[in-house]
Amino acid sequence: MTVQSPESPAGKEVGSTLGKRLLAFAGDPLFRGDAQVLHGPNPYRRALAPDSLAESDFGRPPGPREWPSHRSLAAHRLLGTFYESETVLLPEQGVDGLYEDFTHFYGRRLKELRESSVSELERFAFGCLDDAVDVSGAATPDVLDTYFQHMVDEAAAGPSPALTAVANARDRESAAGLYLVQLALDGLTEASAMSRNLGGAYGPEQSALFKIFIDEFGYGVYDSKHTTIFAKMLRSRAMATHVHAYWNFYLTGPLATNNYYYYVSRDHARFFRYAGAVTYAEAIFAPAFVKMIKVFRNIFGDDVDLHYCDEHAHIDEHHGRITREQVLLALAERHGPRVVPELLRGIAETRLIGGWFEDDTAAQIRWSDDLARYRDLAGRTSTEPAPRRITLTPASPFGTRTHDGDVVLEIERGEADLVTTPTGPPERMARGDAVLIPAGRLYGVRAAASETACLLHTASPG
Ligand SMILES: [Fe+2]
Ligand SMILES: [Fe+2]
Repeated sequence: MTVQSPESPAGKEVGSTLGKRLLAFAGDPLFRGDAQVLHGPNPYRRALAPDSLAESDFGRPPGPREWPSHRSLAAHRLLGTFYESETVLLPEQGVDGLYEDFTHFYGRRLKELRESSVSELERFAFGCLDDAVDVSGAATPDVLDTYFQHMVDEAAAGPSPALTAVANARDRESAAGLYLVQLALDGLTEASAMSRNLGGAYGPEQSALFKIFIDEFGYGVYDSKHTTIFAKMLRSRAMATHVHAYWNFYLTGPLATNNYYYYVSRDHARFFRYAGAVTYAEAIFAPAFVKMIKVFRNIFGDDVDLHYCDEHAHIDEHHGRITREQVLLALAERHGPRVVPELLRGIAETRLIGGWFEDDTAAQIRWSDDLARYRDLAGRTSTEPAPRRITLTPASPFGTRTHDGDVVLEIERGEADLVTTPTGPPERMARGDAVLIPAGRLYGVRAAASETACLLHTASPG
């Protein structure tokens, strides 16, 4: 069954069935969150914010320009959890104290809910790509290579909006922390999606992909594994290194980027799309890491371990070459024009979603770095009557969310911390204080007084 168009009654029905299953999943005690802003070292627990998720209409897939919508964030958090449930996650300190959570996370009830929803949820989350990307036209290996080279050159020459936002922030350390956290989603479980493409029998291209895979795994040496050196970078900034301490701060764009590789790897009908995607990604990583090194050195001087970035700036030159010659073009030559549109689609979709990563991260950095202005703007924003009231205590589960439109958050009673970054200081708000939260911006509120009430005002359109 598929998620249909918003107007279709059948679509609504599917959406509500899917919505019920997703709510049953998110409502599980493992996913209700706790009072802490960062998650403890337990990979099975992650806040899926069932209360705000209940607002999502899963009969109405986000369109191409609605990727930062609240239902898109909800869908990608769920998808990311579904996908990681198909990988082996064990806590560094041993599973002994978490054995019940381990068996429950991988257990039958959640597995059945996942399996009965994952395909529909994928269509919901990624269906907008079908219309957003057009790969019609000549489908020859030459066209493919020309298009690929053009896209890679463009990415290498262009600026990174997210890194520009980090470099231009008032509080550059917090901005860099926010950026690093977006990398942690993949960095802490690197190449997990790729591992799904290693089985089977598909000739020399399979061996080329495997060569890259073993590099990601440090040739079997744990200290050289990319996840290990990524954790080393976080540790050098006194950041947490467990899966997923910063779950509450993963933005929609980065979640979608990470999920995309699982999406095209889970279903091997999309194998050629995966090949296009991984080739584009490997080719743009090296220049992206060169830019990153510059920005981080500038901010932190020697107080950061950039081995992870150095390694990628170097090895991804090599991976970019292998994937282009021995995977992308080799597959096109061997399997002919029928597969070329899919290879092209993989490149185009990865490029598009990579733009979501950049834009979302940049927008979050700019907003969270300038909250004084957004407090100011709150007073000048006209709002709809009948705001929503939310009461909180310091023991309330902490969760983050976004809204589809602009909202004004006002403290009606008590005192609260507005949390918008993983490592920066929270914004203390007293009774009567208000702040404008633009559409798509991620935030959480923590009560600082025993009884706190907030009002959420919807901004009037226009
Ligand atoms: Fe890597
Ligand atoms: Fe690589």
